[in-house]
Amino acid sequence: MARNKIALIGSGMIGGTLAHLAGLKDLGDVVLFDIAEGMPQGKALDLAESSPVEGFDAALSGTQDYSGIAGADVVIVTAGVPRKPGMSRDDLLGINLKVMASVGAGIKEHAPDAFVVCITNPLDAMVWALQKFSGLPKNMVVGMAGVLDSARFRYFLAEEFGVSVEDVTAFVLGGHGDTMVPLPRYSTVAGIPLPDLIKMGWTTEEKLEEIVQRTRDGGAEIVGLLKTGSAFYAPAASGIAMAEAYLKDKKRVLPCAAYCSGQYGVDGVYVGVPIVIGAGGVEKIVEIELQGAEQEGFDKSVNAVKGLIEACQQIEPSLA
Ligand code: APR
Repeated sequence: MARNKIALIGSGMIGGTLAHLAGLKDLGDVVLFDIAEGMPQGKALDLAESSPVEGFDAALSGTQDYSGIAGADVVIVTAGVPRKPGMSRDDLLGINLKVMASVGAGIKEHAPDAFVVCITNPLDAMVWALQKFSGLPKNMVVGMAGVLDSARFRYFLAEEFGVSVEDVTAFVLGGHGDTMVPLPRYSTVAGIPLPDLIKMGWTTEEKLEEIVQRTRDGGAEIVGLLKTGSAFYAPAASGIAMAEAYLKDKKRVLPCAAYCSGQYGVDGVYVGVPIVIGAGGVEKIVEIELQGAEQEGFDKSVNAVKGLIEACQQIEPSLA
């Protein structure tokens, strides 16, 4: 049986890391695409030269031509610009919207049957635009944000409790921005919800609130440290988890930016919600019950995403 094919549109920091992880995890052959001349070819060759040491047989190649992504099973999009210190994800909207137009056209022509994972920021608006520009089915186009935001929340919680990251589960819903909604009630250590852990004396309300805020600021914390770009290891790991769930039909339940058509009272917008990813792409949106402040936080986040979508429509009236 032929190996799967994974196309990476954008071969920068996240793109290169995605290719590395796809190789190490033997997910399939990898094509790196970028507008920068020689760069995807260079990264592909460097990674291919690591394959004898690591013991994987994937074919790795680089291209500036969209025909190279033909027949891809999965396309992961990181094309665009990342933020610099002092910038919010929303500041990237104008530039990255134009990038989504060309990427969407390339996918439409050469990989219309692919499962597409968008990572480019501002995420919720860019994945919405990419679906429109590509015309692919909405269940086959998703955005990577919740897996990353939840991973950050899980890491901080594991550190606070002194337990394995493996035993901490967490949900972060809403948009991938300052309004994201970490949900302590649906976050656990080995099944014990965070409010119970406060009662058990493992942590305090105040400490938990600090961790929630650090999660919201997680991307900015990395940007502030790196100074030259934004996070790439954890975003790449998160994108690969989603691709793997699709390729292996794992039916994983992951928080992702998915197209809502009435779920959570949201219609026509991409926003972070729990979904099941399997061979059918987004197979289900899981509707959990939100209470008071959780629902308010989620609604506020949805409104922020709607504002970004309107900004996209003003720049590009064909998206209206
Ligand atoms: N088509 C293809 N590739 C493009 C295009 C385009 N129209 N425009 C830019 N690129 C490429 C750049 O040449 C660069 O190699 O996208 C790549 C982006 O890589 P980096 O600048 O290293 O950015 P990275 O850290 O990978 O982040 C990419 O993901 O998380 C988001 O906010 C982040 O929007 C940013 C994206």
